[in-house]
Amino acid sequence: MSDPVLKRVSVRKFSRETVSEADVEKLVKAFNASPAAMGKFENMQAMVVQKPKYLDEVENAINGHGHNAPLLFVIATRKDDPMGERNASVAAQNVMIEAASLGLGSTYTLSAMELNKNPEVMSHIGIDHGFEASVIVAIGHPEEELKEVDRSNRYKVTRK
Ligand SMILES: Cc1cc2nc3c(=O)[nH]c(=O)nc-3n(C[C@H](O)[C@H](O)[C@H](O)COP(=O)(O)O)c2cc1C
Repeated sequence: MSDPVLKRVSVRKFSRETVSEADVEKLVKAFNASPAAMGKFENMQAMVVQKPKYLDEVENAINGHGHNAPLLFVIATRKDDPMGERNASVAAQNVMIEAASLGLGSTYTLSAMELNKNPEVMSHIGIDHGFEASVIVAIGHPEEELKEVDRSNRYKVTRK
């Protein structure tokens, strides 16, 4: 199971081990490689939160739904961009696939909505004025070894 697309599963239990600088750089590179509707790259930004002070602030704001991951990859989009959530979702997938290829676990969370109720924390982590958190990807070393699951027939797929 070396294909990172198949290797990726939602991981919600992480060890305390920090994500290395080299891995963070690769995650950021994957984020930067994400497509965006009409090439409006200026409408999306990311905040990589790893410092304990800011992790605590964000975890509290999102009621612990970041699963106490050692890295929260917050993807924010311009409030008035109707493509914001779509762009952020595509970018989140890029980041999660890269995480899987690095042996890291990740989970897409919608808790960004909770973060948006807390402008002080948004400002502390560097979300620009006029932007809102769209997706938060929790990332870290999985506490338990990833188990292979058969997901080959999960959705209805029609071929003609
Ligand atoms: C749009 C979207 C929102 C999600 N929101 C959450 C969430 O808030 N918290 C969470 O733990 N998982 C969340 N997930 C992860 C799903 O629960 C997970 O992808 C699903 O159960 C399938 O499992 P898998 O990712 O291991 O294949 C979300 C996934 C998507 C695509």
